[in-house]
Amino acid sequence: MVTSDQVFTARGTPNIALIKYWGKRDEKLILPQNSSISLTCSGDCTAVMGKTFKLYTTTSVVFSDKVKEDSFYINGVKQDLKTKDKLERFGVMDILRPMAKTKKKALVVSDNSFPTASGLASSASGIATLIYAASSALGLKLSEKEMSIVARRGSGSASRSMYGGIVMWRKGEKSDGSDSYAEQLYPADYWPELIDIVVITSSAKKKVSSRAGMAQTVATSPLYKRRLETVESRIKILIEAIDQKDIGKLAEVTMIDSNNMHATMADTMPPIHYLNDISKEIIYQLHDLNKSEGKTICGYTFDAGPNPQIITIDKYKDRVISALRGIDGVESIFYTKVGKGPQLLDRKSSLIDPKTLEPIIKG
Ligand code: PMV
Repeated sequence: MVTSDQVFTARGTPNIALIKYWGKRDEKLILPQNSSISLTCSGDCTAVMGKTFKLYTTTSVVFSDKVKEDSFYINGVKQDLKTKDKLERFGVMDILRPMAKTKKKALVVSDNSFPTASGLASSASGIATLIYAASSALGLKLSEKEMSIVARRGSGSASRSMYGGIVMWRKGEKSDGSDSYAEQLYPADYWPELIDIVVITSSAKKKVSSRAGMAQTVATSPLYKRRLETVESRIKILIEAIDQKDIGKLAEVTMIDSNNMHATMADTMPPIHYLNDISKEIIYQLHDLNKSEGKTICGYTFDAGPNPQIITIDKYKDRVISALRGIDGVESIFYTKVGKGPQLLDRKSSLIDPKTLEPIIKG
């Protein structure tokens, strides 16, 4: 039941995993080796130093007979849908179309307000938002759980951006992936003091994609087996920490899991290193800060990139920021809160001209 020629626009945000997903048990269906837990970011950020980004992806989608071939624009640039990476990600459209019993082609126009492929989870935000807008345009009334299963097929971490709040992607056991979906553990307003400080140390595109990197880790890292043996116990500790609103416990288990994932990356052949010298200096400085406070007041976590996100609570924010400000090479610092997840926007926000069905390219 395609809502023909009608443009739907959605806005979504990245998420930051506190217990990381790194490694698949099924490459095609994107089934993970372990469950993971994340915070969905609010797109609105408060500037501290340097350039600030909002963390939004806005995506407009239209299915129409007037659209002769699938086309996909990101930040005004037409993407080559023949490249493997784009094909895999845009492939979620070929999961949604049969659900709506249509073969209509789609025009998709997407804007990211933050650098793509730099470890700020642009793919998670991009795919979750695409699915939100596309399933509305197709007239599909999918639950968030159903959308998370589709999102997973585009990029694993995208499954978690289908919800606001604190979200768990359950790894599932079944080989068809039907029990590998995300669900909300706590709503966005559960722990309002929680704060996520983003530090940009480099906006350069990463050298090894997470998709390629994690496959290489699973294939070659002896340490990876140990990660899988220990990750469930960290999930338990993280859930206890959130239940108890215990920032020290949350921060410690978050740092341990990030360090553990990056250790398996270093243990990969050939080794993968996403952190730069500034990232490492941030790690040292934050441990010094926690030590001088006599307790853990903040914890860092790094995705497949050199830019940390630092989790703390409002009352410690200024102390954490002042430690970060002193570090040479930091490009920018801003912070955000836990967000509500994807939303549909009104027509004024459309990135597609409803009359001509042409992209509206913003300068
Ligand atoms: O979903 P992908 O393929 O972008 O992988 C994301 C992997 C990490 O960001 C490193 C960890 C995570 O759980 O988000």
